[in-house]
Amino acid sequence: MIVVLLGPPGAGKGTQGERIAERLGIPKIATGDVLRDAIRQGTQQGLAAKGYMDRGELVPDSVILGIMKDALSSPTAAKGAILDGVVRTVPQAEGLERLVAELGRKVDKVLLFDVDDDELIRRLSGRTVCEKCQTPYRGLEPGTDCVKCGGKLVRRPDDEPDAVRTRLRVYRAQTKPVIKWARDHGLEIAEIDATGELDAITDRAMKALGT
Ligand code: AP5
Repeated sequence: MIVVLLGPPGAGKGTQGERIAERLGIPKIATGDVLRDAIRQGTQQGLAAKGYMDRGELVPDSVILGIMKDALSSPTAAKGAILDGVVRTVPQAEGLERLVAELGRKVDKVLLFDVDDDELIRRLSGRTVCEKCQTPYRGLEPGTDCVKCGGKLVRRPDDEPDAVRTRLRVYRAQTKPVIKWARDHGLEIAEIDATGELDAITDRAMKALGT
């Protein structure tokens, strides 16, 4: 099953993507995580992406299409994948459509996470993430140990207020048109109320996936 998660920054795509992937027994692929790994490892891809990411802008489509291809062609994604933030522009959606067709597969569902702006800002201003495994946390200070892997929790540079404003603007201008594109191309979209308890949101998502 290939599932695309769409939604604004802070909507919980990473948090819920992990849970949905676990329940379905398939991997979660997050372009943001791949790019942050590349930055940490100091690769050319990471160096090229860092400026865009820190400012809250999108990394060029060509870079994302390359990550998408590598990830979906990998044997670990043979049974499917949860695509977290992988599609953020119409050219990326077109690229994914081409890629899945080449692989003889299809996008089974788009889950659109819905959270209002005030809540998004509250979430992002209080978020820390593990610098090693990238698990997001709320209510934990930087420097705390990650309960999953023991790595240190840090603040993301793009969670600073200026970058958050840019990310919300970019979402409206460049990612929202993907919703219309997906509808026009016959993809099934389920809107998920992504506020409230984590378990309740996961249940809503699983129900929308028909499982
Ligand atoms: P990315 O890392 O994907 O960032 P994002 O899309 O802005 O999403 P976030 O990770 O900020 O939020 P999320 O929806 O995953 O929420 P989370 O679960 O963490 O991308 C970063 C950058 O990489 C982009 O800006 C861009 O530069 C680049 N990039 C990546 N993909 C790209 C692409 N395809 N094209 C071009 N550029 C790309 O939750 C947020 C917080 O809320 C956490 O603290 C969490 O604990 C908390 N939380 C979660 N659920 C709840 C709840 N129900 N109630 C209360 N708190 C909650």
